[in-house]
Amino acid sequence: MTCYNLALIGFGGVSRAFLELLEKRNDELLEQFGFRLRVVAITDLRLGSIVAEEGVDVPDVLAADPGNGGFRRLGGSTDARNKWIIHHVPADIVVEATFTNPLDGEPALSHCRWALRSGKHLVTTNKGPVALAAAELKALAAQQGVAFEFEGAVMSGTPVIRLAERMFGGLEIQGFEGILNGTSNFVLGRMESGLDLGAAVREARSLGYAEADPTADLEGHDVRLKVAVLANELLGGALAPDDVATTGITALTPADTAKAAEQGLRWKLVGSARRTPGGGISAQVAPRALPLNHHLAGVSGAANAVSFDTDLLGPVTVSGPGAGRVETAYALLSDVIAIHESRTR
Ligand code: HSE
Repeated sequence: MTCYNLALIGFGGVSRAFLELLEKRNDELLEQFGFRLRVVAITDLRLGSIVAEEGVDVPDVLAADPGNGGFRRLGGSTDARNKWIIHHVPADIVVEATFTNPLDGEPALSHCRWALRSGKHLVTTNKGPVALAAAELKALAAQQGVAFEFEGAVMSGTPVIRLAERMFGGLEIQGFEGILNGTSNFVLGRMESGLDLGAAVREARSLGYAEADPTADLEGHDVRLKVAVLANELLGGALAPDDVATTGITALTPADTAKAAEQGLRWKLVGSARRTPGGGISAQVAPRALPLNHHLAGVSGAANAVSFDTDLLGPVTVSGPGAGRVETAYALLSDVIAIHESRTR
């Protein structure tokens, strides 16, 4: 039996849901894939950092009276503690799920660099490092002979990147258009029901959809990063986020959504990319009033969907959850399974 030791960097809602998932699924993982997962360190901005002593599982420590020992608590700044854990704890896989500014990718980008440089497999839910530095991080991973997986960066637990890579073998993807931000989709839906923007955003935050600063969700920056990731992974592009022309939804009002409804239209924030005849890729994010029979118009709540335009099949649409704690936790689990499979193939 293989056992992978995990270091959890960031212990917010997603990592907690991941831990619960491990407790529920550890026996199935062993039965189905032949491995177990053990959490040997947890580090978090607010909670501090704990490292289990050899042979001890952090969740067991958390469940026990802290006075019992079996672990040690680290001092120092969050940055120093995270750096020490990533470099020195004998983890096989670093699970990076910190609250990160999606625009500069930090602190997640530093965590990713430290993990790969120290020869550890890495999974992250943060899109910033992937959109800004995937080429650098993949090169580092290849150099160190370790894996770098980031399925949660786009559409949370819906494994759109892996699905598209496997499903479209032998086809050419000419472009895609999608609803890639759960918060803005949820907010637009609530505005259709008459809620104002502020109240709708507060609801989205309480449900765990929104970024720490929801400006990134509403101004389209979150979608811009996801469009860059999908275009680079699936269309073979080399786009920087700034290459994606971006407009968000903050100029829309409940009156606009009501007027669109009268006309049989529905506002959606659409991210898209397409190959150009010159061999490049054009990409954008913008609100569009879609006819109700458009394949993206029925995507409701915090759901996401991407419609791929393929040369032989025409449009093929993948839809599923695009945000949420449990959903994103599943992305981490699917990445860990992918690492195991790639190592045992
Ligand atoms: N804030 C993001 C969203 C979370 O609402 O879609 C997932 O990236």
